[in-house]
Amino acid sequence: MAASSGNGKQGGGGGPAVGIDLGTTYSCVAVWRHDRGEVIANDQGNRLTPSCVAFAADDDESFVGDAAFNQAALNPTNTIFEVKRLIGRRFSDDSVQKDIKLWPFKVVAGQEDRPMIVVRHEGKERQFMPEEISSMVLAKMRETAEVYLGKTVKNAVITVPVYFNNAQRQATIDAGAIAGLNVMRIINEPAAAALAYGLEKMPVSNKGRMVLVFDLGGGTFDISLLNIDPGVDIDMGLFEVKATAGDTYLGGADFDNELVKYSLREFIRKHGSMDIKSNHKALRRLRTACERAKRMLSSTTQTTIEVDSLHQGIDFRVTLTRSRFEELNKDLFSKCMVAMENCLRDAKVDKNSVHDVVLVGGSTRIPKVQKMLSEFFDGKELCRSINPDEAVAYGAAIQASILSGGTDDKRLVDMLLREVTPLSLGIESSDDFTRHKMSLVIPRNTAIPTKKVEGFTTFYDNQIDVSFPVYEGESASTKDSNLLGEFTLYGIPPAPKQVPSIDVTFEIDANGVLHVSAEHMDTGRKNSITIANRSGRLNKEEIKRMALEAERHKIKRIKQTKA
Ligand SMILES: Nc1ncnc2c1ncn2[C@@H]1O[C@H](COP(=O)(O)OP(=O)(O)OP(=O)(O)O)[C@@H](O)[C@H]1O
Ligand SMILES: [Mg+2]
Repeated sequence: MAASSGNGKQGGGGGPAVGIDLGTTYSCVAVWRHDRGEVIANDQGNRLTPSCVAFAADDDESFVGDAAFNQAALNPTNTIFEVKRLIGRRFSDDSVQKDIKLWPFKVVAGQEDRPMIVVRHEGKERQFMPEEISSMVLAKMRETAEVYLGKTVKNAVITVPVYFNNAQRQATIDAGAIAGLNVMRIINEPAAAALAYGLEKMPVSNKGRMVLVFDLGGGTFDISLLNIDPGVDIDMGLFEVKATAGDTYLGGADFDNELVKYSLREFIRKHGSMDIKSNHKALRRLRTACERAKRMLSSTTQTTIEVDSLHQGIDFRVTLTRSRFEELNKDLFSKCMVAMENCLRDAKVDKNSVHDVVLVGGSTRIPKVQKMLSEFFDGKELCRSINPDEAVAYGAAIQASILSGGTDDKRLVDMLLREVTPLSLGIESSDDFTRHKMSLVIPRNTAIPTKKVEGFTTFYDNQIDVSFPVYEGESASTKDSNLLGEFTLYGIPPAPKQVPSIDVTFEIDANGVLHVSAEHMDTGRKNSITIANRSGRLNKEEIKRMALEAERHKIKRIKQTKA
């Protein structure tokens, strides 16, 4: 099987290379052919495919994309969506706990604190890992491309939010492998959008342009500040990411949640039936109605949320104005602006030096979001020249084409994307005065790939084992940071404290995945980890088993369609 580790290898045996935007709510696939990017429509004729997977409770039918989405209201507990919010996370994460309360499907804790999705399928209870569900969406995107191109598709560039950590990136690579894809590279969504934008609007002067990509999608919010340098002097366009910021937990689904909560309050106030909260079918239908109302409010100032026979035969209907919608989501909207200010501050860029503000993601259609942005940039006109829903996949297709060397298009051959790491990385250390100190090794917004070596030593006399807890985060104390993994260097010859010299190397590859190693300089003893290993990453056997299972599902689906 072509389950490459995805560390920038091109392998995969040639053939077409596609770009896949694996979104929280929608996914999109694009390919670069005949010197242009093409977004590929699925079997329903849609250019966006819901990132949704469903299982029939009593037989072996399964559904992906529009087919899954369309049967959601009838089969809510077996219809899985927003799985991107689970991938690479632990069950006990706060965000996971919060999401579970609002989802109609069940999620339980599996081995190593992995979140497991529980469904009823083929008459029995089945559990799936988030990687498996994502792989089914990826397989659907792959099939969509294969039907269109009339060829087998193996190679893909997949996009992730900037704020995805190691575990989330690795899990996405694993999902690709389960879908039988060779993941050539993981790139950040806003960087992909910038590639798409830059290709259309490559500046002509040699000064370059400062571009801010504002991506507010279904589940995540990403901002990147890039410098696009046409490189007239060297004939090579350079896309340099200067800084990134955002929130993996902010997007359209949160606006929907606020509307769902508002509707529930209204319903309970009017009808007094508290138990609607446990009626999954009602919640699913309500959510769909809320999302529809939200979209309506991007073009009208008033609409209704309406669901017939919502619960206990009661019809639900409530009027919603645009200003009420804005009020309900006030805090979420301000969070976006704060993140943007941080991003500019980090990059030491004054807002007046931003040339273009590019909107990406369906939620940037919300008038309030556009208004806040435009006001922040003193009334600047926002760029709408690229399709906010498709720019990410389009950019991923550009990168796929560059990596596979499958293009002679001069504009592409001479384009280079340089990304940065979104979070600071370091080791927890202690000295006689402080415990839980974060010893910074790689500061956030460092260009990747990168490699840095820091010297460490022992903490007490005759210490022969030293452990290295690796953290990510911006605080000086590891108590407020996220533990990525830990490993130990054994067998250091006894010596007084602070004498042994140990070099710790942090290396971030092109996918943004971190590898850490430590070496005792006198003896040459070494130990290392690839950070994602520990955070519940799948092993090769598991990926293989899941890939076979996925193949079985695919064959079944094809049979169903033909029947
Ligand atoms: N006209 C609109 N007004 C308001 N919201 C909209 C509109 N159109 C789409 N959306 C919202 O945009 C979101 C989907 O956007 P998009 O397809 O960019 O997200 P995604 O790529 O799936 O998610 P992410 O990038 O966060 O993983 C949904 O929450 C949808 O409700
Ligand atoms: Mg997106």
